[in-house]
Amino acid sequence: MTSDKKRKKVTVLSFINKKSKGEKIAVLTAYDFFTAKFLDRAGVDALLVGDSVAMVLYGEKGTHKANMEMMLAHTKAVAKVEPSALVIADMPFMSYQPSVETAITNAGRFISEANAEAVKLEGGVEMADTIKRIVECGIPVMGHIGMTPQSIYRFGGARVQGRKEKSRQYLIESAQALEEAGAFSIVLELVESSCAQEISKAVSIPTIGIGAGPNCDGQVLVINDITGMYDTFQPKFVRRYANLPEIIEKAAVDFIADVKSGKYPSDDESFQG
Ligand code: KIV
Repeated sequence: MTSDKKRKKVTVLSFINKKSKGEKIAVLTAYDFFTAKFLDRAGVDALLVGDSVAMVLYGEKGTHKANMEMMLAHTKAVAKVEPSALVIADMPFMSYQPSVETAITNAGRFISEANAEAVKLEGGVEMADTIKRIVECGIPVMGHIGMTPQSIYRFGGARVQGRKEKSRQYLIESAQALEEAGAFSIVLELVESSCAQEISKAVSIPTIGIGAGPNCDGQVLVINDITGMYDTFQPKFVRRYANLPEIIEKAAVDFIADVKSGKYPSDDESFQG
């Protein structure tokens, strides 16, 4: 149920505590002010301004085309809602990989210029030092392991991770290294179900799954996937909760018919005198 009553603010601390309370965490992506407002009203725990914006709003083939200016602008729009949900900004490709200094500077821009409350970045053990330094600067970091889209070419496609023992071990070690580095949560993307369950037991911070089965501490989905607004392809793990294209197309068809037939605008919708 949605309500106009302001919910209690979700902070990084209350987000973490949901795990020990056994409360499942629901996260959705958002890229603009009004969608963020409606999702916040619906009660999501966090709004993730994902680099998926490049695909679902700009029609790009992958997330590599997202850049700092794009991500700052969309994060600013979402944060402007001043939502009860935690606002997490996704660090785009090459905004943190080149050096720790670059990573700190760009993470800081999300906080100071775009009003994000936390940042997310992709990578396992190899990113632990970078995460540690960003956290030491006072910026909460959400990790992201499994099939990390910014490294899709290295994986040879969107392949499920954690099926083989070596990959499983790497993911578990990575999750532990990220927790040790100070990450407040970890996204597990396209991770084999029992591996995601093992990771979730191995760390005390919440795991947020996407295509990682039911045993994570929470789930995240892309808003444009669950509403049908992104229809280029639909991964197996996406559940479609609405068919917005059908509603939008019908509204447009009705508008066109009314204009052509002279039914729009009526006198009531016009200014006289
Ligand atoms: O960019 C994004 O939307 C994401 C989620 C899929 C976790 O990183």
